[in-house]
Amino acid sequence: MELFTEENATRVVQARNTGCKDARMRQILDVVIAHLHAMARELEPTRDEWSQAIAFLTRVGQMCSSQRQEFILLSDTLGVSMLVDAINHRREGGGTESTVLGPFYRAGAQRLPMGASISKDGRGEPMRVMGSVRDLDGQPIAGATLDVWQSGPNGFYDVQDPNQPPFNLRGVFTTEADGRYAFTTVKPSSYPIPDDGPVGEMLKSAGRHPYRPAHIHFVVGAPGFRPIATHLFMVGDPYLDSDAVFGVKESLIVTPQRVWDSARAASAGLPAPYWEISYDFALAHA
Ligand SMILES: [Fe+2]
Repeated sequence: MELFTEENATRVVQARNTGCKDARMRQILDVVIAHLHAMARELEPTRDEWSQAIAFLTRVGQMCSSQRQEFILLSDTLGVSMLVDAINHRREGGGTESTVLGPFYRAGAQRLPMGASISKDGRGEPMRVMGSVRDLDGQPIAGATLDVWQSGPNGFYDVQDPNQPPFNLRGVFTTEADGRYAFTTVKPSSYPIPDDGPVGEMLKSAGRHPYRPAHIHFVVGAPGFRPIATHLFMVGDPYLDSDAVFGVKESLIVTPQRVWDSARAASAGLPAPYWEISYDFALAHA
């Protein structure tokens, strides 16, 4: 019989998992227990501090709703989301770099014809986004889908802003034989992640700001290929090197070009001048 003591705590608790039939679950339980115990040994929290930690996590859960995901914000702002993403991207064999999905993805956006606008209210500076989806050998991928979403020029997503029409700045596009895609939107702006909850309090006490640099979200996938969740970031944004969720990668920073040519603007269905960005996505085979 081995009773629980400060010295043997980790071994005694892990020993209770021996009945676990699922090897991966057993490993997860053992590692989580080991790291939580190591944290307690290093920090030696007072009972009051541990109560505060539990109250904090309770409030994170209570803040969650169908419109708000405080646990994703917590994972994102602690860098865990990006670490998990980096590990998986390395294991999956290349292609366009991925980044956080973020808490504002909404399934069910409208499928739109190539070149269509995702802006339902026309507010903001017009922008055209175009490029192609290719495999790692540079061959175009037909039938690739691009699920696109972004915040408005005020920094809010449709789900946060009652003044935006539902599914504003969201759309799904499918490439044809040439693998090309194009859509119009408005220039994104930097924005604070929701900071009126426990994650915001954590950032404040750490002396951190809640801002993310301007970006457009993409989930790009195709049959037979590994889907990626990624962003395109705008060059020159003041928050590129201090993104609250650590999502920026050099390869995902694009330089919007100002287009003054009225004939080219007319062919894009936009007024001149407008902004234009071009980016080719590369997908790895599944
Ligand atoms: Fe975002």
